[in-house]
Amino acid sequence: MKFFIDTANLAQIKEAQDLGVLDGVTTNPSLMAKEGISGEENVINHYKAICEIVDGDVSAEVISTDYEGMIKEGEQLAALDSKIVVKVPMIKDGVKAIKYFSKKGIKTNCTLVFSAGQALLAAKAGATYVSPFIGRLDDISVDGLNLIEEIRLIYDNYGFQTQILAASVRHSAHILGCAKIGADVMTGPLSAITALLKHPLTDSGLAQFLADHAKAAGK
Ligand code: E4P
Repeated sequence: MKFFIDTANLAQIKEAQDLGVLDGVTTNPSLMAKEGISGEENVINHYKAICEIVDGDVSAEVISTDYEGMIKEGEQLAALDSKIVVKVPMIKDGVKAIKYFSKKGIKTNCTLVFSAGQALLAAKAGATYVSPFIGRLDDISVDGLNLIEEIRLIYDNYGFQTQILAASVRHSAHILGCAKIGADVMTGPLSAITALLKHPLTDSGLAQFLADHAKAAGK
């Protein structure tokens, strides 16, 4: 399973990249705003800076919600770097735009997906990635991982090449759940990725090894 980090924070992207486990980045307008990035030029420069750090796909979301606007914006974003994936919302014009980008060989990430039917449409339109938001479903007491399972089944039934990008991941249990189901990618915060490192028996075991070593060395 590929690991994407869901942030526009350059320091966190660098930390994940340095850990050696990062396969890509997802951003969205809220994450860009959180970093104080606004204005066309700043946004463009920020995407370029992310592409310089990361070795993999970088999702950049369109702001337009009409077909022509999404095409114009998406083509501008895609021209920035071959790593750019145009992130398009799951709306009618978004599906049409995904079809257009797919024919032109421009990678897409269909975002804001909350049902298997939406994921089926995204795959039919030729999306490179589909992003079901599992954390936001959990927030309204709907099992987000169950949606990943449904999409996996549907895509495998028909051999769709669209990659399931489990989004809105909140913690390490989500990552493990996605891995067991067979999601192609997960995107989450740095904290969820680094939480995978942690086990109390690792910490106490290491402390014991070091203490025994020091004792044997007469320290
Ligand atoms: C997906 O690409 C989105 O950026 C993201 O995962 C949204 O997650 P949130 O629910 O934590 O905002």
